[in-house]
Amino acid sequence: MRNATLLVGLLLLAGCAGRQSVLDPAGEDARDLFDLFRVMVIAALLLWGAVALLFIYVTRINVSAMPRKLAETLIVGGGIVFPVLLLGALLAYSLPMMGAQRQEGDGLVVRITAEQWWWRVEYLPADGGTPVIAANELRLPVGARSELILNAHNVIHSFWVPALGGKTDMIPGRETRMSLKPERTGVFRGQCAEFCGASHALMAFETVAMAPQDFDAWLAEEARDAAAPGDPLAQAGAEVFAREGCGACHAIRGTEAIGRVGPDLTHVGARKSLGAGILPMERGALMRWIGHAEGLKPEVKMPSFDYLEEDDLRALAAYLEGLT
Ligand code: CUA
Repeated sequence: MRNATLLVGLLLLAGCAGRQSVLDPAGEDARDLFDLFRVMVIAALLLWGAVALLFIYVTRINVSAMPRKLAETLIVGGGIVFPVLLLGALLAYSLPMMGAQRQEGDGLVVRITAEQWWWRVEYLPADGGTPVIAANELRLPVGARSELILNAHNVIHSFWVPALGGKTDMIPGRETRMSLKPERTGVFRGQCAEFCGASHALMAFETVAMAPQDFDAWLAEEARDAAAPGDPLAQAGAEVFAREGCGACHAIRGTEAIGRVGPDLTHVGARKSLGAGILPMERGALMRWIGHAEGLKPEVKMPSFDYLEEDDLRALAAYLEGLT
């Protein structure tokens, strides 16, 4: 019993801080939701306390001897008037919040498409030009409200960065919109919040909230073509990439790889994580991912290149790691 209490306590505390917590808000919308949560919990405790006190009171008196007037007051006041006033106040407080996350943005518009099981991320230029394409990582400027256009092609997914705001469903054939306004810099984890198949739990991403000038510099860098391989190992990796036909599914801008099936890899080495938030971005993890993707993410479209020689895998990983 004591162990169970301890376990429940630890589980509750585990959600209190960190980069994927609704209880540690880092954006305007998440803060509104956190305030709403606090008010709701306090009000629920008040209601529960009042009912518990009434219950204790009636178990300690002789109910049949209670004056009729007092009984009526308790029933009408405690059973009807108090709950109606409290629940009415909560409703009035929470209703105006419903549209808050659909506010218009300040300028930046990002289109996010849910795939099975990763995220296609496109930064749309204000002038209607070519989008800057990335994947599995969302970057946003702090202090500005950015608009997200959400959609999906296969099944229903749900976009959720708990530290920044509420969740919004991504529905095939329909565009949903939401906006987010990060209030401090940091890296916050996002997670698909709607069961979408075998690897739903492995459909995560990082959201990097940056100072506005850093964001502008990053976006300009992200819009560039891929860097040429820097050393002989990476050069060999680029040859393996071409020989194995990786470019049929993946695009690397500035090369012959123009596939659209899998994530764009133009600046893959600059991302914080790999495989949609499931592995760190480093050479060993890249080798494991390329060699055993199907084992790491059940039913993923990426085949496991487990027949590749260790040297080829290492060269390929070095090439991708250098695409920053
Ligand atoms: Cu996508 Cu769950």
